[in-house]
Amino acid sequence: MKVAIIGTGYVGLVTGVCFANSGVDVICVDNNENKINRLNSGECIIYEPGLEDMLRTVVRNNKIKFTTDIKKAIEESEVVFSAVGTPPGEDGSADLRYVLAVAKTFGECQNDYKVFVTKSTVPVGTADKVREVIMNEHRKRFGMVRDFGLCSNPEFLKEGCAVEDVIHPDRIVIGTNNEQARKVMDKLYDEVYGFSEERKLDKIVHCDIWSAEMIKYASNAMLATRISFINDIANLCERTGADVEMVAKGMGLDRRIGPYFLKAGCGYGGSCFPKDVKALIKTGEEHGVDMKVIKAAEETNECQKNTLFEKLNEAMYAVSGLSRDKFSLRGKTIAVLGCAFKANTDDMREAPAINLINSLILHGANVNVHDPVALLNCKVIFADERLVEYYDNVCACCTNVDAIVLVTDWQEYQQLDWEYIREEYINSDHKHNYEYPVFIDGRNALVGQELWKKWFYVGIGKCFPAKE
Ligand SMILES: NC(=O)c1ccc[n+]([C@@H]2O[C@H](COP(=O)([O-])OP(=O)(O)OC[C@H]3O[C@@H](n4cnc5c(N)ncnc54)[C@H](O)[C@@H]3O)[C@@H](O)[C@H]2O)c1
Repeated sequence: MKVAIIGTGYVGLVTGVCFANSGVDVICVDNNENKINRLNSGECIIYEPGLEDMLRTVVRNNKIKFTTDIKKAIEESEVVFSAVGTPPGEDGSADLRYVLAVAKTFGECQNDYKVFVTKSTVPVGTADKVREVIMNEHRKRFGMVRDFGLCSNPEFLKEGCAVEDVIHPDRIVIGTNNEQARKVMDKLYDEVYGFSEERKLDKIVHCDIWSAEMIKYASNAMLATRISFINDIANLCERTGADVEMVAKGMGLDRRIGPYFLKAGCGYGGSCFPKDVKALIKTGEEHGVDMKVIKAAEETNECQKNTLFEKLNEAMYAVSGLSRDKFSLRGKTIAVLGCAFKANTDDMREAPAINLINSLILHGANVNVHDPVALLNCKVIFADERLVEYYDNVCACCTNVDAIVLVTDWQEYQQLDWEYIREEYINSDHKHNYEYPVFIDGRNALVGQELWKKWFYVGIGKCFPAKE
């Protein structure tokens, strides 16, 4: 089957490469010429484990093409996916202009029966708008509405293991009100996955188009809510002597609750949860429904994103020996370990590190940033900031700093010899007047290493040393 994927970002590229790897003929389209040129010259434009190798294979096997020519790609394909972005508009609603632009082009050049599939995350009701745009174009161009299929097929991949998620999805949601479109989508997914009839029952959810759109938002809102819930619990644990990790373990063993997304930290970020939560609240408003739980989850997250700065400020004050009015972070140097919104990705959209770095700059601190893959994106965000320096080596990043904040739980940080770093790098110029340097662990990533014995170590939702 021939498939066009419009929008070659995290979702479009990973989906395109995985589909191509299972034998589908894929044309990936983007209106960003630079991206397409880089892909055509063999460069993998995003970091995702396993993507680069698979990309090389499918290019060699001629199963994938990259182009800016959207019309030709639509004309040559039976199924056309929209995988363009749906960023938040000023009022928090999903900005549908890119999806509707793709729908318009689809309407302009639909030469025979095709299915338009929305993989972009769009609010419930968008399919009706897409249908209207396509039919309007048909009327303008051909004087009549041509037959076409419409489907909502939301994407659930997680950055950092996107390839694995697309190859082994938990579920595939096919939302359509049109029998022919459903058959085309079933044929496509047969080709991609070759599931047995029994597996299909487990894996594929067939539903109406509105429910499919809603499933995506409801899923992300539920996950965001779980994160905010456990972060609220973590904040209470810190003040009472309870340990949020033990609490999450004890909760998660209940099969009705389950262990996932109960990891306390410095708030959710990324390209999806923040914007999807906002958009769902807005959709609720438009329909006169007050989305109270999700609003609260968002509020908790906004506060939690400041928690690293607050913890750092408090810890530095505590070790300074100064009175409140004399203490300041001005001139201090802070190492920020990890700026991607989570490990295994270079994506910094809405990352908690951005809040932290901005607060540090505001308070006049110097910021040393390390990240294994996201430094380029970080440099773009803080391009004009002279207080920020970038390091591709952790030890260099930590040399002579006043404190360390671990923001992203990259495996690399867990494998370092922190005792060695403390002795060799942190205190090397003896500029500290306190014995224990400050270490804020925003992900409880180093809890097992008992850093609290030699550092002023602050985690999330835990007390160090434990309350007796
Ligand atoms: N990133 C994720 O983890 C993830 C997961 C599930 C769903 N989603 C959803 O998938 C959609 C895409 O997300 P993403 O992270 O891949 O976005 P992205 O910003 O990485 O990629 C979108 C791409 O679309 C291109 N584009 C925009 N308008 C275009 C047009 N008219 N023609 C051709 N190309 C165009 C952009 O240049 C960009 O390369 C969003 O709706 C998002 O919410 C994302």
